[in-house]
Amino acid sequence: MRAPGRVNLIGEHTDYSLLPVLPIAIDRAVMVAAAATDDGRVVIESDAVEGVLELDRSRPVAAAGWGRYVLGAAHALERTSPGAGARVLVTSDLPLAGGLSSSSALTCGLLAALSGAWGLPIDRAALAPMAAAAERYAGVETGGMDQEVIVHAVAGNALRIDFLPPSRRLVPVPPGLAFVVASSGEAAPKGEDAREAYNERVVGTRVAAALLADLIGLERGEVRTLGELTGFAELEFLVEELPDSVTPRSAARSLGVLEDSLTSLSHGRVRPDTPLAVCAFARHVLAEAARVDAAEGALLGGDLKRFGQLLDASHLSLRDNFGCSTPALNLLCKSMRKAGALGARLTGAGFGGYALAACLPEVVPAVVAAAVAATGGPAFEVRSSQGLEVLR
Ligand code: GLA
Repeated sequence: MRAPGRVNLIGEHTDYSLLPVLPIAIDRAVMVAAAATDDGRVVIESDAVEGVLELDRSRPVAAAGWGRYVLGAAHALERTSPGAGARVLVTSDLPLAGGLSSSSALTCGLLAALSGAWGLPIDRAALAPMAAAAERYAGVETGGMDQEVIVHAVAGNALRIDFLPPSRRLVPVPPGLAFVVASSGEAAPKGEDAREAYNERVVGTRVAAALLADLIGLERGEVRTLGELTGFAELEFLVEELPDSVTPRSAARSLGVLEDSLTSLSHGRVRPDTPLAVCAFARHVLAEAARVDAAEGALLGGDLKRFGQLLDASHLSLRDNFGCSTPALNLLCKSMRKAGALGARLTGAGFGGYALAACLPEVVPAVVAAAVAATGGPAFEVRSSQGLEVLR
């Protein structure tokens, strides 16, 4: 199986609020091949990481690093293929733990390859939600964008994904638009350091949604995501009435709801006394969702300048409202813009990882050079590629 990485063009930190995103799959991928065995062990070798990873399915234990995704995938297949074993080979030209979704590519690739080897291939429609659930089982909260685009992308297009109600549509990448991605030099493994900060934002936007629902006068405890509030008149003004900072504990008290209903994640929870910048978080998420619509329109209309401006606006909001940029990511975006990019922003969860620049093809070399000069790279051009494929 070939499971590509992804770059989100715009719509950052909107998916877990059930608001839209606009990613592409890229021409770098994780490749997974699996053959069934009958010893109840999943044994994995890879040229991307050292050593052999082994999971005993009768006594599965959480491993560190990418072992957690193997655990998540094996658990997801426990009902259909209990105790089956496999030998698995993984190769990758996708940078690991960098914000290009190597972990979701690995999870999707493993699920597809293992289920195929065990004779019960997963239906494509079921694969993305299953991969997201497998990652959450492995302790990594994720919104669902990565898995959807990895499975369903079509080369030459971006994929507009909506979550409420779920739908997808292709948005052709206009001719003359190129993409460069560049590393900030800071790893952002979503399973590790960046996880706590990510989880705080999942809970922060949930608290914001609950407080806004209360301001609107909706039934208490019913609304869990900002996406459920779209369409309410005056929403963007009400956002400004939210407190700058609030803890889930004091929000729960003022709303008369259980603390847990705000802090619990699929696995684990955010500490109830964590101060959360709910006003700024909500301001980012709602404006970012509007930018997804605008960016889709700009791509469809071939308005590359406008598209670039929207990327810049997204980055500023991620930096100033959402607090998930870093000095290295800011420098990287600034350098790529200066070198002639139409626009640039961090892509993925942030807190390190990669930035994306949109540019005309003729400025790609200059943008790559500027990125490498700023942070040491790697930086390279990516093309919108096909989602999950069987390689023969
Ligand atoms: C990570 C998550 C996604 C999404 C992005 C931020 O990549 O896995 O679901 O939330 O962060 O947009």
